[in-house]
Amino acid sequence: MAGEVIEIKNLVKRFGDFTAVNGISLGIKENEIFGILGPNGAGKTTTINMLLGLIIPTEGTIIVDGYNIRKNPEIIKEKMGLMTQETVVDGDLTAQQNLEIFAELYGMKGKDKEEAINYALEEADLVNFRNAKAGSFSGGMQRRLNLVKSMLHSPKILVLDEPTTGLDVQNRVSMWDRIRKLNKSGVTIILTTQYLEEADSLCNRIAIIDHGQLKAIGTPGELKKMVSEGNIIDISLRFEDIEKAQKALKQKLKMDCKVVADRISINAGKEDVKTLSSIISVLEKEKIPIIAASMHLPTLDDVFISLTGGTIRDELGEQKSNASKIMWRR
Ligand SMILES: Nc1ncnc2c1ncn2[C@@H]1O[C@H](COP(=O)(O)OP(=O)(O)OP(=O)(O)O)[C@@H](O)[C@H]1O
Ligand SMILES: [Mg+2]
Repeated sequence: MAGEVIEIKNLVKRFGDFTAVNGISLGIKENEIFGILGPNGAGKTTTINMLLGLIIPTEGTIIVDGYNIRKNPEIIKEKMGLMTQETVVDGDLTAQQNLEIFAELYGMKGKDKEEAINYALEEADLVNFRNAKAGSFSGGMQRRLNLVKSMLHSPKILVLDEPTTGLDVQNRVSMWDRIRKLNKSGVTIILTTQYLEEADSLCNRIAIIDHGQLKAIGTPGELKKMVSEGNIIDISLRFEDIEKAQKALKQKLKMDCKVVADRISINAGKEDVKTLSSIISVLEKEKIPIIAASMHLPTLDDVFISLTGGTIRDELGEQKSNASKIMWRR
């Protein structure tokens, strides 16, 4: 489609019997910050690895700037840069040496190379650390070096795989500023994230993927409107009361509520205050103690819950030890 710098059509990736990406189609517009949002294992890295030609799709087509990458793989190197999920800097080499290796990989030489490296070090706030070994850098510094490394050849499209996972809040916000600045300079940004607030704050449009499938796509505002034009009511209960409450609300008020860990979540519609008071009165009659009740405009959290069937999913059970999962909870 016109104005789309990337078109993905019916993309599928199977690893043996397992389907990691299951028929994703979407378009990315020129100069937008496009977020691919999904929990661990959703298929984010697999999707962008196909976009970058690092793995071959089982099925589907990817068009970058009008070129089918299967037929014109050279277009990827010319137009795109990648910041991988794992920070790839050589700790035994200095910041400058790390950048030199990469610049050479991209065929840069002489003055061009020198200028690109100087610019990159400035952009990463690492000029004073030019000759320090990257292994001595903090996580934030390494991530910055990784980011500018992917930008050395001035790509038109930059792909960032979970650019802020594992960073503290300060470094995360500073990474967001860098990403916005790059985007303002004309670079189309595609990023993956498992942080709802990151997608909300940074991205012009978001694709929500789960189990390898596209669940929804739109601006943060459009996605939230999909859930409800009005408020969402959240009621926290004792875990053992959840099922009883769900049944009572269904029976007495014909209300479908989503269950998220120890709370129930209800689309309040336009008559939100009235809805809240009828819920409270039903629960009181059932002698179900309410721990907390709140009403709020839909968040991306609510969007995800609504799209994936009401819980943060059994995934929490699958990967309880993974602290980042908590980001999916309120
Ligand atoms: N080379 C592979 N062989 C087999 N299975 C794979 C391979 N690569 C990925 N997978 C599986 O495909 C699924 C999607 O993985 P992927 O890395 O794309 O997820 P992700 O959304 O990037 O998750 P995360 O947030 O953890 O990085 C996972 O279940 C993963 O185990
Ligand atoms: Mg990943």
